Amino acid sequence: MSVNKEIKRITTHVLQAMKAKGERIAMLTAYDFSMARILDEAGIDILLVGDSASNVMAGHETTLPITLDQMIYHASSVIRGVKRALVVVDLPFGSYQGNSKKALESTIQIMKESGAHAIKLEGGSEVKESITRILSAGVPVMGHLGLTPQSIYKFGTYTVRAKQEEEAKKLIEDAMLLQELGCFAIVLEKIPAALTKQVSEMLTIPTIGIGAGMHADGQVLVTHDMLGITKDFQPRFLRTYLDLFEGIKGATANYITDVKSRDFPNETEQY
Ligand code: KIV
Repeated sequence: MSVNKEIKRITTHVLQAMKAKGERIAMLTAYDFSMARILDEAGIDILLVGDSASNVMAGHETTLPITLDQMIYHASSVIRGVKRALVVVDLPFGSYQGNSKKALESTIQIMKESGAHAIKLEGGSEVKESITRILSAGVPVMGHLGLTPQSIYKFGTYTVRAKQEEEAKKLIEDAMLLQELGCFAIVLEKIPAALTKQVSEMLTIPTIGIGAGMHADGQVLVTHDMLGITKDFQPRFLRTYLDLFEGIKGATANYITDVKSRDFPNETEQY
């Protein structure tokens, strides 16, 4: 299906209508102005300023170290590159867990200082109060269930979540709760495809899958993975559309050769 560029701005209501019509939602991460501009022009529906910036932009092993100020820096850069997509920003680790007042303060700081359109946070019933408080301030909230990378030290591994009945049951209850609270969408990360199907059919709000199979209402990938920049990360769920690592490396090698051989700059490339 081609991208519907007739839609001037993607809003949470547009996403709801897309689910109702059975139109898939395409989401990618973005952390800077230039990339956001390209992805937006291509027609992406949602840009997520993910805390995966901690991994792909800053080189950390986990998403835990990134700060609220760093997320705001990335988010405001993305916002300047976007005309059509809905821009969602991750609340970083430590900015909302266990304290709904702090969750609201962090959200307000993101919204005021970056100009973003919505926030995302990880977890179900544990973050119920934070979600309620943020929504009461009029800020749209996207949930995130399944593998929640901010809890990596609790899980111990990045393997598929909710394979056991008990965990699957909790995920279903949490998904229902997030919808009842008023979340506009839920990211489902690394869970079995059959569970994604069950949850997506049960909910009226869209599910956005990553490693969660073909039945989600939308898909999200980390842009750097999808473009083949992060060379060492190749899980089964990832489809790469470019090999930018090798592309950039090759172009850089050519540049170095041209500089060293005095081929660049030539007579037409000078004043
Ligand atoms: O931070 C991120 O990039 C995410 C996606 C993996 C959904 O949360």
